[in-house]
Amino acid sequence: MKGAALVAASALFDSQASLQAMDRRSRRKPSEAAADFKFRPDGSFKLIQFTDTHFISGDSRSQRAMECVCEALDAEKPDLVIHTGDILFGRPDIESAIEILTPISQRGIPFAVALGNHDSQFGSSREDVYAAIRSLPGCINTAPKPGVYGCSNDVITLSSPAGPERAFYLFDSMDAVVLKGEEEIHSYDYIRHSQIGWYRAWSEKLREQNGGVPLPSMAFFHIPLCEMAEGLASQERTIAGNWCEPPCPSRVNSGLLAQFREMGDVRAIVNGHDHDCDFVMKYGTLYYIYGRYSGGDTVYNHLGEKGWVEPKLSGCRIFEFRCGHSEVNTKVRLYGGIVQQEMAI
Ligand SMILES: [Fe+2]
Repeated sequence: MKGAALVAASALFDSQASLQAMDRRSRRKPSEAAADFKFRPDGSFKLIQFTDTHFISGDSRSQRAMECVCEALDAEKPDLVIHTGDILFGRPDIESAIEILTPISQRGIPFAVALGNHDSQFGSSREDVYAAIRSLPGCINTAPKPGVYGCSNDVITLSSPAGPERAFYLFDSMDAVVLKGEEEIHSYDYIRHSQIGWYRAWSEKLREQNGGVPLPSMAFFHIPLCEMAEGLASQERTIAGNWCEPPCPSRVNSGLLAQFREMGDVRAIVNGHDHDCDFVMKYGTLYYIYGRYSGGDTVYNHLGEKGWVEPKLSGCRIFEFRCGHSEVNTKVRLYGGIVQQEMAI
């Protein structure tokens, strides 16, 4: 079944023109970076974040997810897509992941994934799901790194002719964990020491390349940090967008935020996971951002145009970058074309 799905997906992406277009837009580095992108000739670069498509192949409840993804791609024509996980939500699992990612692949748009907690809960191992996704043309995720926890840990750079201007870090926030010796603690997993070491090595390398100045960066992963909840409880944060459920981070603080602060490069953390949140929160020096739920009705979701208002509207989050500009524009785009939360961060 898995092999058949991959053959079918490859056949769908057999256009030489599309491959050449992708080659123009995505230049792989000889090192282990996933890709180094260039700004468009007009100095712009557009990234779409899809999240929580929870797709199930052959299930009519997933139709809204597929329509949402296809419409956003055709309307926005992004240079890069990042899917922040919970790509699938049932059997056949690998076929489901391939099916919902194929519209991106077919359009010749480079994409990467940061796997979610549900992506390896339906029979296939996380490694097999990840390998199948990586086999799709256009997927820029690299192979799992020996000694680094999880699969989907990657760094993507965006460069001007003078060199890298930005980095996008992808972390695998995995699934659930029962802590050794503390069996009463069942929790979502957390970013491990090996992932932090991998991040710090890249952060140092990019800072060196940037003349000793931390390279402005964003981090994408599925499960939010504990600091997301801490920020919401604080009087010192500002927030825009929908906050319609409490965040569900790990019960274990990974320490990742401290690393971001030490390295001084990551300015925004972008998550999925909590379907009824799509907000941008400024807390301290960082932005904590949720994507907009991109799925159908295979799982809980309640957001309409304004909070819990019918009809439910799936969507995506968009980030727009300009060469030489430190600010990033972001907005939520809902299925049908309504745009919300336009702001600079
Ligand atoms: Fe989810």
